[in-house]
Amino acid sequence: MQITHSIPELRAALAQRGKPAFVPTMGNLHDGHLSLVRIAKQHGDVTVASIFVNRLQFLPHEDFDSYPRTWDADCEKLQSQGCDILFAPREKDLYPEPQLFKIQPDPALADILEGAFRPGFFTGVCTVVMKLFSSVFATTGGGTAVFGMKDYQQLMVIRRMVQQFALPIDVIAGNTARADDGLALSSRNGYLNTDERHRAMALSQALKTLADAARKGDAPLAALEAQAMDALRAQGWQPDYLTVRNRSDLLAPADASLQASAPLVALGAARIGNTRLIDNLEF
Ligand code: PAF
Repeated sequence: MQITHSIPELRAALAQRGKPAFVPTMGNLHDGHLSLVRIAKQHGDVTVASIFVNRLQFLPHEDFDSYPRTWDADCEKLQSQGCDILFAPREKDLYPEPQLFKIQPDPALADILEGAFRPGFFTGVCTVVMKLFSSVFATTGGGTAVFGMKDYQQLMVIRRMVQQFALPIDVIAGNTARADDGLALSSRNGYLNTDERHRAMALSQALKTLADAARKGDAPLAALEAQAMDALRAQGWQPDYLTVRNRSDLLAPADASLQASAPLVALGAARIGNTRLIDNLEF
């Protein structure tokens, strides 16, 4: 695996290699990331992963400084999956000067759910992803990018950005990888202590219970969502939201959609101890 740090180095490594399939990450890689790399290997001539902890998508009180940086283990894992090129820009490579031009995503999609609790998050994500895309794809005439479904809203925002800017990039989604008890794999799971880890499966269980009850129409949706949040609180969590939305636009579904088999998704974000986790379930 070739390791590159600057954009010119990356572009030189990509020359004459065909179409890249690209997996952007912030490192601290787990099996979920590695499953995305395996997908990428099926969809391009050359597999590229990036590791960059993007300051722009963290609020001042969030965990930018303490975000786990596990360089040696990450390199070994990527190598084991047959990743061809690792792009690991330093801050000065991606942001050589203050980033004053930013991508402002559609607020109807980006200011709800995660965007409501983490203002500016999707501006930070879109801005870095646009820079990563330009680093990887500008000289290759496009290619494929693979994103995980655990970050469901992020995936939708990126898809819309690619569509609105007519970027020559196919975005592919990889399923959420889960531990045996259902906990979605996340770099932030490493923050959980033993007791929190034992209780962490409650988030995916709450989403399943909410999805089942919503489809059965057991009660108005708002009441079911409130019940789901109460149930999670009773297990020591502090939920930001647990909600059922249309898969198409992440807005609340019409009542009729709940009775029919309209494509819906239950999404949740909640804090256990000091750790904030997100998850979702399509149904
Ligand atoms: O999902 C992530 O790890 C990040 O949001 C991404 C897409 C790498 C951008 O920093």
